[in-house]
Amino acid sequence: KQEKLWGGRFKQSTAPLVEEYTVSETYDRRLYAQDIAGSKAHARMLARQGVLTRDEAQILVDGLDQVAREIQEGTFVWRADLEDVHMNIENRLTEIVGSVGQKLHTGRSRNDQVALDFRLCVVESLQTWERALKGLVESLLEQARNHQETLLPGYTHMQPAQPVSLAHHLLAYCQMFCRDVQRVQDCARRASVSPLGAAALAGTTYPLDPDSVAQELGLQGVFANSMDAVSDRDFVLESLFVGSQIMAHLSRLCEEIIIWSNPGFGFIRLPDAFATGSSIMPQKKNPDVAELMRGKTGRVYGNLMGMLTTMKGLPLAYNRDMQEDKEPFFDTDTTVTMSVTIMGQMVEALMFNPEAMHAALRKGFLNATELADYLVGKGIPFRQAHHITGNAVAYAEKNNKCLEDCSLEELQTFSPLVDQDVFEVLAYDAAVKRREVPGGTGPRSVAAQIRAVQEWLDRSKEV
Ligand code: ARG
Repeated sequence: KQEKLWGGRFKQSTAPLVEEYTVSETYDRRLYAQDIAGSKAHARMLARQGVLTRDEAQILVDGLDQVAREIQEGTFVWRADLEDVHMNIENRLTEIVGSVGQKLHTGRSRNDQVALDFRLCVVESLQTWERALKGLVESLLEQARNHQETLLPGYTHMQPAQPVSLAHHLLAYCQMFCRDVQRVQDCARRASVSPLGAAALAGTTYPLDPDSVAQELGLQGVFANSMDAVSDRDFVLESLFVGSQIMAHLSRLCEEIIIWSNPGFGFIRLPDAFATGSSIMPQKKNPDVAELMRGKTGRVYGNLMGMLTTMKGLPLAYNRDMQEDKEPFFDTDTTVTMSVTIMGQMVEALMFNPEAMHAALRKGFLNATELADYLVGKGIPFRQAHHITGNAVAYAEKNNKCLEDCSLEELQTFSPLVDQDVFEVLAYDAAVKRREVPGGTGPRSVAAQIRAVQEWLDRSKEV
């Protein structure tokens, strides 16, 4: 029978189907670099604490470096019968360095080992997301800078509402993705904790020094309770949520890209590099990238829901159920990293059509609020002004024209207080220019928003 690293008390070998069922090396090998870094730090600490000799630790470190090289070069032979990445590496280490290899696992369990590897992995992924998100914010900010004068309809209920600047619209997404950056940073702070030293669940009898291991690995803290350290996966759940929130934001932008590229809107032209054609209809240029990103959002949510369900009701401490944390996270990680990166590139390449946007302003009475506010300025209570303007809109709609196309005489039939100056008020760019409240769509407010986001980006780079 095949000897397992834990085989001492077993008389029969594992059933083939069970081996296939329990194996994780097929996907957790993605943690090999973290596993080796963790083992090297563990070996060095054991030597500092007098559990191993300096020479033994050096042999282990050199051996682990060789294992890493073999994996990178593709000569490493992964064995399903060795279950997971941890035992594959330890087994190979012992083949290379001999019996000293059997000392590596002193004062350690796979339970604290896997928690460490995965925390290191999640922290690295979060850093990647952070970089990609900042790139996306830069792209949005650049487009916003170029489109401070470009006006388009703002919508509520997907119905024309009030004119806004394109910069203002894009800056709304900047805010969402800036908050996502903050969520990623918060999440990384809590994930950046070393569980090494918790051992199986109760801590260990060896005089370990978890702080020095955490420091060597660049983690910000160490576990406070050994049972918590090996049994919780809230750092995974939290990052799966943060990924879901990022995808939620992306999918809204995707939806707008899809709508805006429809010829009925014609607000953007998709760059060829970010669109695909049809196998039958020669004219087609489809926003598949945005659609796929919207679609992948569902899978990312599923990873969060699945993992929440896996963790529900698990008694302390480690349970094998928790091995199911890896695939959903890897899947979310790949999707989030690619989606944010691609969105950054796509936003940078989007070609906006200011003429189409401006033409759309004349469909849907986007300046009706201006007329109502104008009447308020003439002393009419707002609710009455609202009603009078509604009458004017109904009239204009019936006569197939915009409010600003009505003559002064026509407008005066709704209120004698209307004067020639009403036409300045009805101009769409004037409507935008008047909204200079902080965070509003007025040009000075928008310029301030651009400065603030840029300053935030510059500051948060320093960390
Ligand atoms: N492959 C396992 C996991 O991902 C490693 C820890 C296994 N520990 C154990 N006692 N079986 O969770």
